[in-house]
Amino acid sequence: METESQPLFFREIMEQPRVLANTLAQYLGPGYCLKMNLPPLDDLGIARITKVYLTACGTSFHAALTARYLIEELAEIPAVVEQASESGQHQLLVDSGTLAVAVSQSGRSRETLYAMGEAKRKGAMTLALVNDADSPLARAADGRLTTLAGRVTPHSSTKAFTSQALVLGLLAFRIAKSRGLLKDSFKEEIQPFGRIAETVRGALVKCQGQVEPVARLLSSHSRVFILAKGNLLPMVYEGALKLKEVARFHAEGYSAGEFGHGPLALASPDTPVALMAFSDSHNGHGSFTELARALRSRGAPLVLFAEDGPRKDPELLKLADCAVLLPPAPPRLRPLTALMPLQLLACALGQLRGLDVDRPGGLLSEGSVPDGPEGRPEIFLGTGPTAARRGLEH
Ligand code: M6R
Repeated sequence: METESQPLFFREIMEQPRVLANTLAQYLGPGYCLKMNLPPLDDLGIARITKVYLTACGTSFHAALTARYLIEELAEIPAVVEQASESGQHQLLVDSGTLAVAVSQSGRSRETLYAMGEAKRKGAMTLALVNDADSPLARAADGRLTTLAGRVTPHSSTKAFTSQALVLGLLAFRIAKSRGLLKDSFKEEIQPFGRIAETVRGALVKCQGQVEPVARLLSSHSRVFILAKGNLLPMVYEGALKLKEVARFHAEGYSAGEFGHGPLALASPDTPVALMAFSDSHNGHGSFTELARALRSRGAPLVLFAEDGPRKDPELLKLADCAVLLPPAPPRLRPLTALMPLQLLACALGQLRGLDVDRPGGLLSEGSVPDGPEGRPEIFLGTGPTAARRGLEH
C-alpha cells in the first residue's frame, strides 16, 4: 500500500501496473484487436516499410533497444537503434522506406529532436512516441503514439519507460500485421500483452521484500556490474542508469557474453556482480553457471536475479550470496518483470545511503528544448558535424 509519505520515485514504480493498463487500453481493444493507426501511413504504407530506425536518449534509448528484438522477430525487418546524441556523427542511412521512431518521455530532448529532424530531411517517415502529445517532438513528427504515464518525475523515469516499451512492442505487432505476418497466430502471440499489468504487478509484489538484502550487500561496496543476455540486456543498462542517478552508485549494465572478454579482470571481493539469469540457454556461448563459477573463484560477491518455479537453477542459486526470485513470465514480457527489482533496488539503496531519491542528479537541463516562439518547436539545433555543415552549430 503506497502512502504520501513514501518517496515519489517509489510511488511511481508501484504505479506502473495502472499506467500499463491505461496505455494498453488505448491501443488494444476487446478480442485483442489492435487499434494503432499511424497516419499518414495507411496499411499499404506500413507494409512498405523496409527498416525501422529508433532514436532516443537515456532511459528512452533503453526502451528503444527493447523494440529491436520484437520488430526483428515479429515484423521481420531490420531495426536500428541509435543514441540520439550520436546522430550527426556518421552517415545516416535512412530513406523513404524507413520508419524513424523518436522516443522521448518529455518530447523535448534536444538530441532526439535533432535526430528525428535529420531522418525526416532524408525522406524517412517520422513517428514520435511521447508522453506529452503537445510537445515539440510530437508536433514535428509525421505521426505520433502516446504513453499514458500521467505526470512523471522529470528526472528518474520509471513508468514512462515501461509504457514506452509496451507501445513499441505493440508497434512491432502493428507492422507485422500490415506485412501479412502472424496471420493465424496473431491473437495467441499478442495475448500475453493483454495481461501485462497483472504480470508486472505480480513481479513487484514478489520482489519487494527481496531487494533489501541486495541493497545492504551493495552498500558496503562502491560498484556493481549487472549482466544479462538477449532481450534482458536493455534492462540491465536501464537498471544501472537508475542506480547511478537515484542511488549515486556506480553500476554498469553489461552483456554476460562480453564480460568474459576483458571486464572479468575487475571481478574481485570488492566488486559484486549481479546476474540476470532468467534462462541459461547456451546458444553456443558460455552458460551463466560457468560464469558464476569464474566470478566466485575470483571472490566476487554474487547476486542472482532469476525466475522462480521449475526453470530455477539450483546450482546457480547455491553459488549466489543473495538472490531475487521473480514469478515466471511469458518470454516477451520478461524484460519488464526483470526491471522491477532493479528499480526497487535503486530506491532501497538510495535510501540506505541516506539520499533523497526524489532528487536524483545527472541531467544537463540545457539538453531539453523549450517551445519556441509562437509555440513552434525549436528543432534541428544539433551540435554534430551535419549541423556544423549546415551552419547550425552554436
Ligand atoms: O524526455 P526524454 O525521454 O527525451 O529524456 C531522455 C533522458 O534525458 C531521460 O530518460 C533520462 O535518462 C532520465 N534521467 C532517466 O531516468
